[in-house]
Amino acid sequence: SLPSRVTLVDVGPRDGLQNEKAQVGTAEKAQLVGMLQAAGLKEIEVTSFVSPKWIPQMADNTAVMAAVERRPGVRYSVLVPNMKGLEAALPTRPDEVVVFAAASEAFSQKNINCSIAESIERFAPVVAAAHEAGLKVRGALSCAVGCPYQGAVSPDEVDRVAGLLRSVGVDHLGVADTIGVGTPRQVQAAMERALKHFPLVEVSGHFHDTYGQALTNIYACLEMGIHSFDASVAGLGGCPYAKGATGNVATEDVVFMLHGLGIETGIDLDLLVDAGAFISGVLGRPPASRVGRAVLAK
Ligand code: HMG
Ligand code: MG
Repeated sequence: SLPSRVTLVDVGPRDGLQNEKAQVGTAEKAQLVGMLQAAGLKEIEVTSFVSPKWIPQMADNTAVMAAVERRPGVRYSVLVPNMKGLEAALPTRPDEVVVFAAASEAFSQKNINCSIAESIERFAPVVAAAHEAGLKVRGALSCAVGCPYQGAVSPDEVDRVAGLLRSVGVDHLGVADTIGVGTPRQVQAAMERALKHFPLVEVSGHFHDTYGQALTNIYACLEMGIHSFDASVAGLGGCPYAKGATGNVATEDVVFMLHGLGIETGIDLDLLVDAGAFISGVLGRPPASRVGRAVLAK
């Protein structure tokens, strides 16, 4: 049987807005976070503490964290690639930090300018210091089924890098299909390997929807009992170092499917659609979410 309740992490403010040509204002970013929590999201990935030369869109990270009107019971996470990022993030009081590795050597080089082995070495003190500060550490594992530079990625690589992330103390593993090429059995194979190193409650899926497979892949994960997923309001998202990759699966679409399956999310779909319409308006385009567009057309 499928899980009765699913936790969704909205990564739109981070994964979504990191990839936009237009610089979205700090106030709009904070308003988006506000609308997501009003819709019932309990976990929100707000921003990243990465090099502003690499990702100028996230340069206002500290200001965004300060501008968010926090609600009790909501967890706010931020990406940190290294100690410098963690040191900048800590004073902004995130609940969780996310380190990010790749199952593909080529992607690791392009995205964080180091090898997989170097990235793990770099994360070890970040994880230790984050734990010292009382924060949970999530690990994102990019290119878990395919890489824009190397092509197919084998489950053995997922197994290996998931084990390395666990060995440095990462608490949770987000298995990411960065370029959205995975199909259900491939995703299940990657997930099985992740589950060798992390308990079921600490494994989540992060699916970009480039090839339209994300919802199906989420369903395939539900069948395995996985009950935490990243999604992005209005289908925002992409990675500047994964050319051609489109947004994450839209949170609205995931919520519609889950509610249709009788699975609780705690999310109010209408308020979520409002959040998607708001940020799409800021970006000057219709929401990429099919459900969002259908609800707005009613
Ligand atoms: P580097 O150039 O190798 O770093 O970049 P460095 O240590 O040699 O430092 C170079 C300069 O960057 C120095 O400044 C540092 O101070 C500065 P300078 O002396 O030249 O003025 N610097 C920083 N500044 C601010 N914050 C920091 C930081 N670190 C160094 N944390 C680095 C290495 C990792 C920094 C760089 O490659 C980088 O920032 N990469 C981030 C790329 C990124 O954000 N990608 C998108 C997020 S991942 C993603 O989207 C995938 C995910 O969604 C899952 C999926 O879908 O697959 C999570
Ligand atoms: Mg992503």
